[in-house]
Amino acid sequence: MNTQQKNRPIIYVISSLAAIAGMLFGYDTGVISGAILFISKQFGLTPFTNGMVVSAVLLGALIGAGGSGRITDSLGRRKTIMITSLIFILASIASALAQDAMALIITRIFLGIAIGVASYTAPLYLAEIAPAKIRGFLVSLNQLAITIGIVLAYIIDYFFAPTENWRMMLGFGAIPALILLLGVIYLPESPRWLILKGFTQQGRLVLQKIRGDINVENELQEIVENTGMPQTTWRALLTSTYKPILQISLGLAFFQQVTGINTIIYYAPTIFVMAGFKGATSAILATLGVGIVNVLFTIVSILLLDRLGRRPLLLFGIFGMMLSLVGLGSAFSMADLSFSRWIAVASMVAYIACFAIGLGPIVWLMISEVFPLPLRAIGTSVAVCAVWLCNMIVALTFLSLIHLLGGGHTFWLYALFCLVSLVFVYKYVPETNGCALEQIEKNLMSGKPARELGQPLSKRK
Ligand code: BGC
Repeated sequence: MNTQQKNRPIIYVISSLAAIAGMLFGYDTGVISGAILFISKQFGLTPFTNGMVVSAVLLGALIGAGGSGRITDSLGRRKTIMITSLIFILASIASALAQDAMALIITRIFLGIAIGVASYTAPLYLAEIAPAKIRGFLVSLNQLAITIGIVLAYIIDYFFAPTENWRMMLGFGAIPALILLLGVIYLPESPRWLILKGFTQQGRLVLQKIRGDINVENELQEIVENTGMPQTTWRALLTSTYKPILQISLGLAFFQQVTGINTIIYYAPTIFVMAGFKGATSAILATLGVGIVNVLFTIVSILLLDRLGRRPLLLFGIFGMMLSLVGLGSAFSMADLSFSRWIAVASMVAYIACFAIGLGPIVWLMISEVFPLPLRAIGTSVAVCAVWLCNMIVALTFLSLIHLLGGGHTFWLYALFCLVSLVFVYKYVPETNGCALEQIEKNLMSGKPARELGQPLSKRK
């Protein structure tokens, strides 16, 4: 125990470096909310091209996530992060220099590809190097970095708004990307990937380096046993053995998005104006407040995850989101704007805090945990694609829904999705807290149902 504690700093350093990929994800998805106003003005965008510029990143992310399984499996996790950071740098600079809408859309698709690959690789890498006991904490550093990236984007937007300098807003993303590129030099390859590729001795060395003085033979043995399992293709995902994990991961991906998080992240200023706030500045400031609450409650969640477990936080968080959405919807249905706008603000703050406690960090964490090694690349990639696809659908339909149903009913619809996701989590999502990835795998192979996949060996029949 002592030795384990003594050697932990290195694992924190490595994890924090890898999590910068999450920061880029947050920055590059968040920055457009402020920049688009000025881009639209300069290029004279139509509503359609406007939507294209905003959602090009989401389309790119979908493509990136789709290819990322194969890429990380053949190149390794480390090299993939390195190439991704290079694309981040180049695409950020290119988008800042774009001379017309088409160039912007194309560069933002590339940026999206980098985001998609990063959103897959960073949590996967973190889960693979983490000791089981603090895996929740380490993998969730990625989500923390996403929220910090979003706040950073809001601050940069606010800073450059008076000069309408959207090029600086977009170009600024190259700086954290450069830090990531330099940081990758210190990242070791994932021991699980090394062993999967037959480099067992190298895998042992890395494991020893990141675990310190403790004996790594048991862990190594478990990994070797699991990598010995035959490699599978995506078709295996559809077989009954793997059905429970497909169900869990796709369900979580779906519910993380259809409960409406990005209507707030991408459109908070619009919602604040709709709720009766006058002027862009106060709306952007209120948005910044929402971003900061997101960061703070992600920290709360990270500190509790490995103590309380994933399920209680998920259930509590979703329940709170549901109540907040009912409140937000009601605010839009009230006649008296002076009162209702404060209900809207309180509901949005409560909503974002509850998302940050549960669905935000835990979905990425569980997606990275539940797939067995031979299927991890393909399975995780399918789940991450589902996140981006649902993200894109919600982002593209939100404003039309508001137009069609009105604010009240739209947010009540997302509240209804919260209710369904509550039932889903209660019935199907396992508690994986403190359970080694290899144990989850063994439970799966022994035919346990979804809800019991995280049970420790001692409880197995
Ligand atoms: C979600 C993003 C969202 C972000 C907000 C992430 O977990 O995947 O879609 O924008 O959290 O913090």
